[in-house]
Amino acid sequence: MKFSVIAALGAALFVSGLSGAQAQTFPTRPVTLMIPFSAGGPTDVIARLLAETMTRELGQQVLVENVTGAGGTLASARLAQSKPDGYTMLLHHMGIATSATLYRNLSYDPQTAFDYVGEVTTVPMLLVARPDYPAKDFAELLATIRKDPGSVLLANAGPGAVSHLCGMLFQQAVGVQLTTVPYPGTGPAMTDVMGSQVDLLCDQTTGATNPVQAKAVKAYATATEERIPVLPDVPTAKEQGLEGFEVGVWHGIYLPAGTPAPVRDKLNAALRTALEDPNVVKRFAELGTAPVPLEDATPAALEAKYKSEIAFWRPLLEKAGQFAN
Ligand code: MLT
Repeated sequence: MKFSVIAALGAALFVSGLSGAQAQTFPTRPVTLMIPFSAGGPTDVIARLLAETMTRELGQQVLVENVTGAGGTLASARLAQSKPDGYTMLLHHMGIATSATLYRNLSYDPQTAFDYVGEVTTVPMLLVARPDYPAKDFAELLATIRKDPGSVLLANAGPGAVSHLCGMLFQQAVGVQLTTVPYPGTGPAMTDVMGSQVDLLCDQTTGATNPVQAKAVKAYATATEERIPVLPDVPTAKEQGLEGFEVGVWHGIYLPAGTPAPVRDKLNAALRTALEDPNVVKRFAELGTAPVPLEDATPAALEAKYKSEIAFWRPLLEKAGQFAN
């Protein structure tokens, strides 16, 4: 028994190219935290807030790298191919689980490609429109888009992005098919909504709170059960009579499969410190979210969440039949 544990640890260290001593002194150089969408978007905002505290905790720079493309799956594929030595991580949201079904030709096996650092946060979503969108309220918006759905431009970050999923749920709930416009992230999509190049976007509060508060976009409805405390004037879709339009976006940090446990545990400790950092908690709250309870910021909790969400979304997405490839 003892021998097999030692053999397994030895095998993991061999795969990662780290000796036991190296794993103990990890990290000795900067660590990359990839994110699968554009700079300035909601995932980027979360990553940069965490990276600040994790840098202090690890004693090495945590560098955020935006690896965009294919609804986030390029970054996941890059992670799967990375050396499992702890120097490359990925912050991704629930799109990493939905893309396991949406993309039928992934270059990695979603069930076995990753190791897990921990869950981070769950972020609410809402529907925003260009600042000069004529509808005075949600009822008028629904009436307008039902009249001529094909002329309405709905921005998203491509299949696998939560803006895409949220937009799909919205269209299903309303019974329309809008014209979708894909971006490499909702950061640039939001810029185009603010500039009135596109009409609508379903985004996370971490991307939408500031533009809504600054009145740079109009907010018509939240995709939540209750109103969002930082945006108290925006009614939920449900209270305005639209059922079936609710989505909360969970996030986690991933590693390539085969990362030695001592390395993963150091990254997990840094994540947990970041999630308790008063500045992170305050900034998250200002953006309409909160860190997960610490019992969920564990490798086991994220693995369970990730795998159960793949299983949850698979039949629904297969039924919808909207695959990315
Ligand atoms: C982003 O960070 O740009 C968003 O999370 C993309 C998305 O809608 O999934």
